[in-house]
Amino acid sequence: MTLLSVAPMEGLTTSVFRQVHAKTFGPADLYYLPFITPTTEPKFTDRQLREVDPSKNTGLNVIPQLLSNRAADFNWAAEALFALGYKEVNLNLGCPAGTVVAKHKGSGFLRVLDQLKIFLDGVFAVNHRIDISIKTRIGWANEEEFEDIANLYKQYPLANLIIHPRLKTDQYKGHPRSSVFDKFLNTFPFPVGYNGDLYTVEDMNRRLQVSPGLHSIMIGRGLIADPALFRKFKGGRPASKQELIDFSQNLYDGYAIAFESRKNAVMRMKEYWFFQLCLLTEDTKLSKKLFKSKTIEDYESSVKEIFEFCDVLEHPRFGWFKPL
Ligand SMILES: Cc1cc2nc3c(=O)[nH]c(=O)nc-3n(C[C@H](O)[C@H](O)[C@H](O)COP(=O)(O)O)c2cc1C
Repeated sequence: MTLLSVAPMEGLTTSVFRQVHAKTFGPADLYYLPFITPTTEPKFTDRQLREVDPSKNTGLNVIPQLLSNRAADFNWAAEALFALGYKEVNLNLGCPAGTVVAKHKGSGFLRVLDQLKIFLDGVFAVNHRIDISIKTRIGWANEEEFEDIANLYKQYPLANLIIHPRLKTDQYKGHPRSSVFDKFLNTFPFPVGYNGDLYTVEDMNRRLQVSPGLHSIMIGRGLIADPALFRKFKGGRPASKQELIDFSQNLYDGYAIAFESRKNAVMRMKEYWFFQLCLLTEDTKLSKKLFKSKTIEDYESSVKEIFEFCDVLEHPRFGWFKPL
């Protein structure tokens, strides 16, 4: 059975989101945590601990993710996560942010495969009690790069490999380079998952038809837009308007508590609305009002009006698509 997993998304798939999502629409099989960057000091910060605190993830299958280019830092953090009760840790080799790749982390590591090899040798030299998986892009600027990258990964006992078939230079533009994924899928000695631009049940089924036996299907933006997507995939009902109202309100309340500030919660909620508006009929005036809102009152009245005047669509409009 292919596992349905929620992609790690900084600022979106947080502990608040995980709890509210699972409660409203049923839990996903797996929730990946947005990345944590371990430092040379072998200790998580209070902020990092808040996300990995097992009491925040009760009843959910949660996989933390690390962003690092130093094996020693990765290794202490992996052990610390095992001590907290986690069974798997994921290595981020996909993040395309300028500040990250400049340090040869995330997809920046894919540019220096000799250094990535030294790193992975250092990680797998330790007899880790926690399983190690990787989430990767297919290269920096050229599809051909994936041949060497794949050959490197095959040298290690990965628990699984999740491939987002884009290059660093693609950022999030254009379509995933699915032909590269298809070409390599059956060459790996460990389970493989697919991630990228799936946002309807039909998309998910099409992907499973092309690549049966996938270990996991990971979805990020499509699931923020349509939080009932996995329930629909399993034959359940689409999100009702009342469910979306409750979902949005519970996220907002959850963040107001977590941040001890409802005003800061308003800022965070706008990040969800960027995606969630795609599941509602378009109303440019109302969405502008929502994103412009600075006060709690303006935000709350915009949300009320949106739910009053906009209808729930069957599929999200792919509002975030950017051509190459
Ligand atoms: C706002 C945002 C934050 C993200 N944060 C992370 C992260 O912390 N770790 C990671 O591996 N990928 C991160 N990603 C990438 C997603 O996990 C995913 O690979 C990407 O969105 C493509 O999948 P999708 O088309 O299903 O959204 C992030 C993406 C976005 C848009």
